[in-house]
Amino acid sequence: MSSSLPFRLADPASPTVLVTGANRGIGLALVREFAGHGWNVIAAVRRPAEAGELIALATGDPRVRVESLDVTSVASMRELAARLQGVPLDVLFNNAAILGDRHDTGNTKQKFGGLDEALFDQVMKTNVYGPLKLAECLVPNVAASTRKKIIGMTSGLGSLALMERMSLFYYYQMSKAALNMGMRALRHDLRPRGITVALLAPGMVGTDLLAESGYRGEALAPAQSAAALYRLVEGLTIGDPGVPVNVDGQLIPW
Ligand SMILES: NC(=O)c1ccc[n+]([C@@H]2O[C@H](COP(=O)([O-])OP(=O)(O)OC[C@H]3O[C@@H](n4cnc5c(N)ncnc54)[C@H](OP(=O)(O)O)[C@@H]3O)[C@@H](O)[C@H]2O)c1
Repeated sequence: MSSSLPFRLADPASPTVLVTGANRGIGLALVREFAGHGWNVIAAVRRPAEAGELIALATGDPRVRVESLDVTSVASMRELAARLQGVPLDVLFNNAAILGDRHDTGNTKQKFGGLDEALFDQVMKTNVYGPLKLAECLVPNVAASTRKKIIGMTSGLGSLALMERMSLFYYYQMSKAALNMGMRALRHDLRPRGITVALLAPGMVGTDLLAESGYRGEALAPAQSAAALYRLVEGLTIGDPGVPVNVDGQLIPW
């Protein structure tokens, strides 16, 4: 659990990943996956006291540390960065995001005819500004690590090519397209420091977010997606072309 004690990695000889949105869905599965490979895992969540499953996991594995982080709050990011000062982060995994609307409520706040400004701000702040600003706050930690990787979790819904004939969730779609461009720009800036910035998509995964979208087709289990994402992360090199890659290794057309 997060505490006021100085932060210490349980196993400084092993690599370390920080996962945002680590209390459920793909984030929680990523915690399990990286911990299963012997990594130190900093599991960042906005409401640690409510993260029951994650806390149970952390209680049984000292390499998993739960820390408080709201990706819409720069103050929260700075607090975490201060706590982690001097801690090398091999992988910063920007996983947290919101869909921003529930399909089954008939909510139209991000559809033409009901466009809602406050929801736009919330989705863009969470899905776009959050990952970029967090990278800015934690770049000294990533630069001090061995692997030096920053991941943006994208989606096929952010692809102009794939969405040519679809309008599902305007803001979510826009947020992932904007994330792609933000991470692309970050890649350019951080490459000279030996940092790999990559865009990975988890596939269709059976989580709360997918249920909210109204999708009822086949989906991967979070653990399946996390296992494949882990392999992709480990395979990334500084020569990575920086285009969105799906969980199955296929490039996602922009
Ligand atoms: N599931 C899919 O099929 C799919 C497909 C393509 C891309 N993705 C992407 O994969 C990632 C994970 O999605 P998921 O399906 O696992 O979603 P999920 O089950 O809805 O989980 C989202 C996570 O993000 C966290 N989060 C939301 N707002 C936050 C904030 N302000 N600060 C900190 N954490 C916040 C949530 O925490 P709380 O519990 O506190 O809300 C939760 O842990 C997202 O980037 C999503 O866009 C998912």
